[in-house]
Amino acid sequence: MNDEELINQAVEVRERAYSRYSGYSVGAALVDDQGDVHTGCNVENASFPQGSCAETGAIAAMVAAGGTRIVAIAVAGGSDRITTCTPCGGCRQRISEFADGETRVILIAEDDEWHSYGIDELLPHSFKLV
Ligand code: THU
Repeated sequence: MNDEELINQAVEVRERAYSRYSGYSVGAALVDDQGDVHTGCNVENASFPQGSCAETGAIAAMVAAGGTRIVAIAVAGGSDRITTCTPCGGCRQRISEFADGETRVILIAEDDEWHSYGIDELLPHSFKLV
């Protein structure tokens, strides 16, 4: 699974986002240490804080399937078209839990290119229990 394929999966699952309150749809696709791909989309709720992020869904699917590390995660978000969606603080922490120094967070750039970041770039000095 190369970066472009992972991004395509994120864009595809974004179509299934339940984002009726914000109108902002997000899809996330990750590849785990077993080489398996897991996807998730944001699922909003009439009680706003009960909504969940796309990354949260993808990570939950990975854990349920037995994956333990994120090799790469791609995120695609936006209202009408795909724009850069940098993971929220909570999702950075969730990614960090299953990341290592090699993990890549792939974000789509405005220029339709993509860039990948290490989790330490997105969440420096993160809280971890050893
Ligand atoms: N959202 C995500 O799914 N992932 C992020 O990293 C940022 C925000 C969702 C939450 C909410 O449903 C919508 O985007 C607008 O904030």
